[in-house]
Amino acid sequence: MTRRLVLVRHGEAAWGAENKFCSWVDKPLTQKGQVTPLHLSSPKFSPKLTFLRHSDPPLLAQSSISLPGENEAKECGELLAAQKLWPDVVFTSVLGRATNTARIILDEMKKVIGKEMPPILSSWRLNERHYGSLIGVNRSELAAEHGEEKVRWWRRAYDARPPPIPRTHLHFSEIYEDQRYADVEPSQLPVAESLRDVVSRLKPYWAETMATTVQNSGITMVVAHGNSIRALLKLIEEIEDDVIVGVSIPTATPLLLSLTSDLKPMNSHHFLGDPKAIEDAIRRMDEQGKAEPSQ
Ligand code: 3PG
Repeated sequence: MTRRLVLVRHGEAAWGAENKFCSWVDKPLTQKGQVTPLHLSSPKFSPKLTFLRHSDPPLLAQSSISLPGENEAKECGELLAAQKLWPDVVFTSVLGRATNTARIILDEMKKVIGKEMPPILSSWRLNERHYGSLIGVNRSELAAEHGEEKVRWWRRAYDARPPPIPRTHLHFSEIYEDQRYADVEPSQLPVAESLRDVVSRLKPYWAETMATTVQNSGITMVVAHGNSIRALLKLIEEIEDDVIVGVSIPTATPLLLSLTSDLKPMNSHHFLGDPKAIEDAIRRMDEQGKAEPSQ
């Protein structure tokens, strides 16, 4: 029997819409009727990473055409229902934007398929990559200050680990006092990660829990984050370090993998949906790291 794995990055979340690194901050999905800005910038950006401002109110610069996160998740559910990809089991991170995307997708699919809800298993090991001191920083402002190449390197190079989150960071307590991590050995909780680090923290969960579940199920769905999905793909497809740099995962766009019984990929992963829309979404995501054009 072919095992199918459906990987979905959550729908657009509040800080995604503001072009800020969201990472381990638990921002909700954007909702219908909410303005979805393409670029928001904080009024005075400090060039020094150690003095980055995280509390300034954002300024609206431009409108976006992308759908609010909740709608994206709903459309993703409709697409998966049409493809009859009802999962036997679902894995998510512990962050609300992933768990809510999973819930919206399943609710939508259930309307068409009408089966009992599958078990949903959540783990911090599927959380987004920890962006350290870059959390809350606007990507365009970072590019204006440090150059687009540097931002591209921080975002996509396999071994790029940003500076650690300082204790004085506005969101430090919110992350480290979160009761969802109460059972996690404090030394295991990251303070900044490269993609290689994400692969390392994901590997034991894949090997000890996920892999057996995937082997015993027809269809498994994983709803996680751009970089935890890249890490999972790297593990399963054994993607080379310099090739994973070019892999980007747009929001709420399902990616399908067919695996043999010993979990070897039968062909390389592919996105489901309109190829042109997917190409545009990937381009928009890559452009998040461009410096804003001068006014
Ligand atoms: C975030 O942490 O904000 C994103 O989910 C991932 O950001 P990236 O596309 O810049 O890696």
